[in-house]
Amino acid sequence: MTLGIGLIGTGFMGKAHALAWRNARAVMGDVQDVRLELLCDTPEDKAAAFAGQFGFARSTGDWQALVNDPKVDVVSITTPNRFHKDMAIAALEAGKHVWCEKPMGLTLAEAEEMAEAAARSGKLTMTGYNYTRNPAYRHAQKLVQEGRIGRIVHVRGAVDEDYQADPDLPWTWRAKLGEAGLGALGDIGCHLISLLCGICGPIESLIADMQTVHETRPLPDGTGRGKVENEDTATAILRFANGAQGSFAASRSAWGRKNRLGFEIHGTKGMIIYDQERMNELQLFVNEGPKAEQGFRTILTGPDHDGYGAFCPAPGHQIGFNDLKIIEAADFLRAIETGTRPWPDFAAALEFEKVIHAIAEAARSGTRVSV
Ligand SMILES: NC(=O)c1ccc[n+]([C@@H]2O[C@H](COP(=O)([O-])OP(=O)(O)OC[C@H]3O[C@@H](n4cnc5c(N)ncnc54)[C@H](O)[C@@H]3O)[C@@H](O)[C@H]2O)c1
Repeated sequence: MTLGIGLIGTGFMGKAHALAWRNARAVMGDVQDVRLELLCDTPEDKAAAFAGQFGFARSTGDWQALVNDPKVDVVSITTPNRFHKDMAIAALEAGKHVWCEKPMGLTLAEAEEMAEAAARSGKLTMTGYNYTRNPAYRHAQKLVQEGRIGRIVHVRGAVDEDYQADPDLPWTWRAKLGEAGLGALGDIGCHLISLLCGICGPIESLIADMQTVHETRPLPDGTGRGKVENEDTATAILRFANGAQGSFAASRSAWGRKNRLGFEIHGTKGMIIYDQERMNELQLFVNEGPKAEQGFRTILTGPDHDGYGAFCPAPGHQIGFNDLKIIEAADFLRAIETGTRPWPDFAAALEFEKVIHAIAEAARSGTRVSV
């Protein structure tokens, strides 16, 4: 019996999940086929229209009907953050596996509730940290694990976008604590934390600062201006459990930056540089060979890098953002098939949530915070 997929939301991430579910088997070959069973959005006619476009058999305007539907085995949650907790817990309690977009919840307490519900349910979960699926990133992980750049001593991470740089952009749910939770930290900062922790391990403690660049924004209905309740930028100094030091910066108001999610990993024998805006390459320096010929080399990803070859047999021809979601869906399908925990599931992603909330707490209190 094939797995029935229920997808909630048809926006940016809804489409990415739909494409991922549709294509995981076609691209990978080694994962089971799925049934696109039920699609939910509000209003209901929007769900019906997208069900036709995405290839889902049925549609509904009621997410509770979706999570309780007997033909749905796995629920994808791609709604705004304020729905994640209730939808995920209801789906887990209804006996479904859950793939939920990041951040997990509005608050750390919500994320903890979700992780507890997942542990109680015995079902498998996955969170939407797609950049950890990038073959270039995976290769960086492998290089570090193999000791190619020695012991990690210093880490510099930054994630910059400009989707909130324009002061005249209308107010949206992303600006409200009760609907989005954190700002830049929850939207994009958590992605950077997933990448840094995926290479350097857990973060032990940090100090931080943050600011709201544009305090108000025009309300979409033209009735005045709405308050921006969460941060546009955040900066932190990190101490990893393995002793490495690091810096972190996140901004959603960085003009010109579109998805500059990147880091430098400084080791005792070399350095790795990663930048998601150039997602098909990696920079590597190793202290080897004649000094006169040393330098950073640009590695273009290809079939020799984990995840790439399923899309394309030719190196340097490049994969794209939505392909990372296909890799993520396939990893989740393999985990379901073998009954093993995928990474990062709710328990693992809770550790990233702890870090972003610790950054917010450290910025508010002005003190060093243990994670
Ligand atoms: N992994 C990533 O790279 C990434 C990128 C962007 C967004 N996200 C996350 O994905 C989530 C959604 O973001 P988005 O950019 O896709 O938002 P979006 O606004 O494009 O889409 C949200 C969708 O949810 C639907 N929706 C809202 N309330 C609903 C309800 N009660 N029942 C059913 N459907 C409902 C909306 O109609 C819309 O289709 C957020 O949590 C966001 O943080 C992740």
